Amino acid sequence: MPKTSEFHDRMLSLGLARVSEAAALASADWVGRGDEKAADQAAVNAMREQLNKLDISGTVVIGEGERDEAPMLFIGEEVGSGTGPEVDIALDPLEGTTLTANDMPNALTVIAMGPRGSMLHAPDVYMEKLAIGPGFMPNVVTLDMSFSERVKRMARAKACSTEDITVCILERPRHEQMIEEVRSTGAAIRLIPDGDVAGVMHCAEPDLTGIDMYMGSGGAPEGVLAAAALKCMGGQIWGRLLFRNDDEKARAAKAGVTDLDRIYTRDELVREDVIFAASGVTDGSLLPGIKREVGYLTAETILMRSKTGSVRRMTYRNPVQ
Ligand code: FBP
Repeated sequence: MPKTSEFHDRMLSLGLARVSEAAALASADWVGRGDEKAADQAAVNAMREQLNKLDISGTVVIGEGERDEAPMLFIGEEVGSGTGPEVDIALDPLEGTTLTANDMPNALTVIAMGPRGSMLHAPDVYMEKLAIGPGFMPNVVTLDMSFSERVKRMARAKACSTEDITVCILERPRHEQMIEEVRSTGAAIRLIPDGDVAGVMHCAEPDLTGIDMYMGSGGAPEGVLAAAALKCMGGQIWGRLLFRNDDEKARAAKAGVTDLDRIYTRDELVREDVIFAASGVTDGSLLPGIKREVGYLTAETILMRSKTGSVRRMTYRNPVQ
């Protein structure tokens, strides 16, 4: 198959699900074993092996880190058979390494793929994030509003009281003031120890998850992955890169970021149609984790295409070799 710029997302999506499933199955042995590094390595190895089986000329744009920090799936690594469409790939082979090591909810394997240039090459810095589900006017809430104002606007948009709103926030000392201000409105907070890709995705299915809004800072690469998910599921996300020092600003410059204060919308984080797959490693509100039976492992995957808004949930029961 020759190199082509055409991105046959329909054909590639099942392949993407296999990549995500393989990473989840590989990390299963490490659930609850207290070894984050081994769990991550197992997921990385499996994801890379499966990616290299796909007929794509892929480039990792969101990956395990810079080339000198990560031996595999580093930013810029070329993956796939080298034939087929030229695609960009954003991935996190194990989103929630600590969650996996401690067998806590919502650890996922995550991957998104789109045509070349479709996703922001986010540097490995923090990003301030705000996300809501589908069905709201653009800018019903913004990153420039105070935390309490966001909750009040959301309640007004949903025609409910602020007491009926639940906000998901990463439990971090840097979020203490945010937590206090959100609580002062009467809203409930679901504090999560890790895993803000899942945190953001929760907003897209509020009836299932009970989450109306996500706010707080986390990894910028995870922000792009979350935007890819919301582009498929519906919902809005805004992100602003945060820099703690000159080294982080230099990383941003290297990644091609010129406006350091810019607020990115979902469609600026992910500019073209993408496909997205995530598999559960530990049980969560969106996806069950890997299930063990004698002789079998079962993985659950959510597979989505932004072009059609299609969301598939797939169960893969795999004999243990
Ligand atoms: P890992 O899976 O790489 O450990 O990341 C988990 C995570 O919670 C992300 O979901 C989140 O974006 C980031 O870490 C937050 O970073 P920090 O732990 O530095 O607050």
